[in-house]
Amino acid sequence: MKSAIILLVAIIQLTPAAEPDAESLLRKVSELTLSEDGKLNFTQLVTKYGHTAEQYEVATKDGYLLKLFHIPGKRSSVLLTHGLGADADLYVIRGHGSLGIALADRGYDVWLLNNRGTKFSRRHTALDPDKDKKFWDYSFHEMGYYDLAAAIDFVLHQTGEEKIMAIGHSQGASQFFALTSLRTEYNQKVKLFLALAPGAFFFNMPPLFQIAAGAGPLLLELAKILGIEELCRDRGALVTLIKIICTKGIISYEVCVKGAIFPFLGYNPAGFELSFLRTVLGHAPSGLSRKCLEHYDQLYLRKKFGQFDYGVSGNLGKYGHPNPPDYALSKVTTDVALMAGELDTLSLVQNVKVLKNQLPNVVHFEVIEATTHTDFVVSGEASIYLFPSIFRLLQEYD
Ligand SMILES: *[C@@H]1O[C@H](CO)[C@@H](O)[C@H](O)[C@H]1NC(C)=O
Repeated sequence: MKSAIILLVAIIQLTPAAEPDAESLLRKVSELTLSEDGKLNFTQLVTKYGHTAEQYEVATKDGYLLKLFHIPGKRSSVLLTHGLGADADLYVIRGHGSLGIALADRGYDVWLLNNRGTKFSRRHTALDPDKDKKFWDYSFHEMGYYDLAAAIDFVLHQTGEEKIMAIGHSQGASQFFALTSLRTEYNQKVKLFLALAPGAFFFNMPPLFQIAAGAGPLLLELAKILGIEELCRDRGALVTLIKIICTKGIISYEVCVKGAIFPFLGYNPAGFELSFLRTVLGHAPSGLSRKCLEHYDQLYLRKKFGQFDYGVSGNLGKYGHPNPPDYALSKVTTDVALMAGELDTLSLVQNVKVLKNQLPNVVHFEVIEATTHTDFVVSGEASIYLFPSIFRLLQEYD
């Protein structure tokens, strides 16, 4: 077991050196095994499904250069933020059955943020992601405090609107709550926030999660010792290997989806079918920092929705207190709608209820049937179970 972990970590570690080979290999693999939509990029997908896509570069206060996508529409602006290991691509890969396109089909002005570290936002004014470890020194905290703030301001500036609507999936919700609890003026810039499978509290988790999260500190410490800051790099050697293994038909589906995704995020073959693997693997996973996982692991282990724990001396220096402060959810005064998935084994319904009890302005709470953690964004059946509720809410605030 230990040697397998070391081997795995070593493969990740080899990523930069293996880069050119990995890339040409991946190109060959994708030519053979990906679906048409697995091969098209964001712009091409949006065009294929009847809209136009624009790209903007948004600079954050701490120097990251983020790619923000825009699908112009005449109704109110809606800003979408993605989950961990994802990027804006996942909001369009089901065509008219994807939230990004479905909102555009209904005339909304759709904006899609790509958080720092994803394949679209791997840039900084001063730091080199390949050389400077400092580039990867962030979690959902900074994605909220800086990235989401910059995106909201950019959209308000571009559109001349006073307030926008925003939707965040999983980490996209964590970052929203981090932002609006700390920089409270952002509550006035958003008229409705829709949290899909929000990640904040992790009480009473399933046994498999407990095992993985319990091993988290050890594995993450090992990764740190080996100098691994970036995980899931698009076109890295490990990701390429996973893509090769996972695009081989029914066996791949058993191993990669039924064996690796469903046990952690919820079981629903109807929402994530075999043929969809050939599309989704052209777009995911997208890069993230080791610290992202570390912060979530801390939320689980500390049983609090709080800031990053740097250890007693680190915390004293950073926060002036031996423990990291909790995010003050009472300060999130934006109207919030919460949606939890009936089959979600990561953002459990009961934990979304805990969140509901701590937020002052919850205008809607709903358990979406037949929906896992990933189904909120990539299910082929989201237009049946999820979209009607979303459209009804947005319409109220439009
Ligand atoms: C997609 O590919 C086209 C053609 O190469 C390019 O012009 C466009 O910028 C790409 N879009 C993204 C989001 O990378």
